Amino acid sequence: MPDLLPPCVARCFSALLLVAVLAGCAVAPTAPPTLYQRLGGAPRLELVIGRMIDRAARDPRTRRSFDGIKLAPLKESLVTQLCSISGGACRYEGETMARAHADARIVASEFDALVNILREELDRAGVDAGAKNELLRLLAPMKREIVGGHGGAAAPRS
Ligand code: HEM
Repeated sequence: MPDLLPPCVARCFSALLLVAVLAGCAVAPTAPPTLYQRLGGAPRLELVIGRMIDRAARDPRTRRSFDGIKLAPLKESLVTQLCSISGGACRYEGETMARAHADARIVASEFDALVNILREELDRAGVDAGAKNELLRLLAPMKREIVGGHGGAAAPRS
């Protein structure tokens, strides 16, 4: 088949095409990472939540609620919930926060202590401050449900 274009024009055209393709690659829009990705995805969430629950179950400020609770399924449920609210591909199908915590009659100081443990474990696992604070901001409104869900009565001292 005869060439349709003189060779120099064809070469020029190919070069222009290559430049256009490379420029297109350079500016192709990429979706910003989700909070879930910035938290480090499943491996880091599992590490952080595993350590947080183990500590909360021993810490004198929080441990009374964890008496007799199976920690492995609780960790799993919490990881799924955090994956779901941070934009990961999970769906949390557990209890509402009010129902899950109603029997424990959790008070504000216990809630704050657990959030502090979580903050320390996020730092320890190397989660950056932006992602950490974004996650903590998502959890803050749950305090009303978790602490207020039982009518606000004080927990028994232990
Ligand atoms: C923002 C803070 C919190 C979040 C996001 C959270 C999340 C959860 C989730 C997802 C579950 C499992 C519910 C299910 O699988 O149906 C759960 C259960 C539980 N949480 Fe929390 N929680 C929080 C605060 C606390 C605090 C402050 C305590 C105690 C100091 C606590 C103690 C427990 C216990 C003991 C259970 C197990 C309840 C049972 O199985 O009867 N949680 N929580």
